[in-house]
Amino acid sequence: MSNNNIIIFDTTLRDGEQSLKASLTVKEKLQIALALERLGVDVMEVGFPVSSAGDFESVQTIARHIKNSRVAALSRAVPKDIDAAYEALKVAEAFRIHTFIASSALHVEAKLKRSFDDVVEMAVAAVKRARSYTDDVEFSCEDAGRTGIDNICCIVEAAINAGATTINIPDTVGFCLPNEYGNIIHQVMNRVPNIDKAIVSVHCHNDLGMATANSLMAVQNGARQIECTINGIGERAGNTALEEVVMAIKTRQAFMGVNTRINTQEIHRVSQMISQLCNMPIQPNKAIVGSNAFAHSSGIHQDGMLKNKNTYEIMSPETIGLKKEKLNLTARSGRAAVKGHMADMGYTESDYDLDKLYDAFLQLADKKGQVFDYDLEALAFIDMQQGDEDRLSLDVITTQLISGLPASAFVQVELDGVRQSATSQGGNGPVDATYNAIMNIVGMELKMSHYNLTAKGEGAEALGQVDIVVEYEGRKFHGVGLATDIVESSARALIHAINAIYRSQKVANLKPKK
Ligand code: KIV
Ligand code: ZN
Repeated sequence: MSNNNIIIFDTTLRDGEQSLKASLTVKEKLQIALALERLGVDVMEVGFPVSSAGDFESVQTIARHIKNSRVAALSRAVPKDIDAAYEALKVAEAFRIHTFIASSALHVEAKLKRSFDDVVEMAVAAVKRARSYTDDVEFSCEDAGRTGIDNICCIVEAAINAGATTINIPDTVGFCLPNEYGNIIHQVMNRVPNIDKAIVSVHCHNDLGMATANSLMAVQNGARQIECTINGIGERAGNTALEEVVMAIKTRQAFMGVNTRINTQEIHRVSQMISQLCNMPIQPNKAIVGSNAFAHSSGIHQDGMLKNKNTYEIMSPETIGLKKEKLNLTARSGRAAVKGHMADMGYTESDYDLDKLYDAFLQLADKKGQVFDYDLEALAFIDMQQGDEDRLSLDVITTQLISGLPASAFVQVELDGVRQSATSQGGNGPVDATYNAIMNIVGMELKMSHYNLTAKGEGAEALGQVDIVVEYEGRKFHGVGLATDIVESSARALIHAINAIYRSQKVANLKPKK
């Protein structure tokens, strides 16, 4: 790889996923991994296999399916973590073991309760163990942003001697300012004698809003791998946003003098998918992927744009895959038209189930008349989030609300193929009454920790999307439902969450293989 190529290491499915209110299902993670592969990420870090049977299973599933990106998994600098990472990854076409240990005095003393020398020894042993499984080993010194430069240089040199091929310098708590962080990378590049044997990587958190700036400063000082996530999701204020560093490098290529392999036309679509599946809305003014990122509001700006787009546009919306609106679909549109609209938005048939999508589309077209591309995309996303073997499905809901009186609901579902119904009276409103009826049928006590209603689409024609997080036996589960009616969206969200609970009960019986 030439020296002006920047390796994009995406950690949406590891650092990003660990920050979500409820974890993603294996199916959702695989959908995301396939989308990241199409985006062209060089490396995708997809989990922390030792942490749970579910994480192990998802890393292994992704490792089996991804062919054009290297798949990485995280491990602490301890043998059982490294072994679990290898066991999960070994089915991959190309994989990397990423091992880490903290290096700052604060972490070493307060968290690890060890000496710095012990930490170096553990780092060396971990890298050697990982190298016994693969030639591609990344070592990270956690909290490097607050580690003295002599200690960074010392542990980095030892890790490279032990066989690390990538050295990551994380600003774990997003503490550094751009010049300061750039200087750390400069020192590492100039003071570590064997640094030419490894790629230097950066991993910045955004606590002070510096993650993108810090990553770019690091590149200017010799780093050749950027760790980042889609939409910048991640611990606390998040990680460096992939779309920001990639578009900065592309738009300011003459200044930066480096390139990435990213297919930028996939950015918008992947960003929408992550936002939806991870239940993480994107702020409208978010750089590159916010809904206002390419909108020009003031008269002066609009006038300038009409005269010459370059007046107010430094990159075109098409570069990130935003397409112009086309003719809308109606109930008379055929499967080919639906498939064609999905293809125009960049989806291949492997992303969704055309039969299911077409059925959902017809039901919606009957209710709404015109179906817009964003409706179709929302239906496809919902389909991606449904399991293949859902035990519970919704048949009928009727609710009654007479002002001044408690609400009531009648719900009919199918549970394991058997039709069941319940009536609930005395709810705080129709949604509450519907939820009580569903919970009576499944016999589960669920605590609702989050309920959010969003309009998908525009104006009175918009669909209502409900996202909920429920707690069951100490774990959190995400459910999402989409319909023209908000009681139905709410019911669908609860049924989605209950199916996730059923699935997790199945996964809990799986154990990581030793
Ligand atoms: O922020 C951090 O330090 C990390 C490491 C595990 C790389 O995520
Ligand atoms: Zn991190």
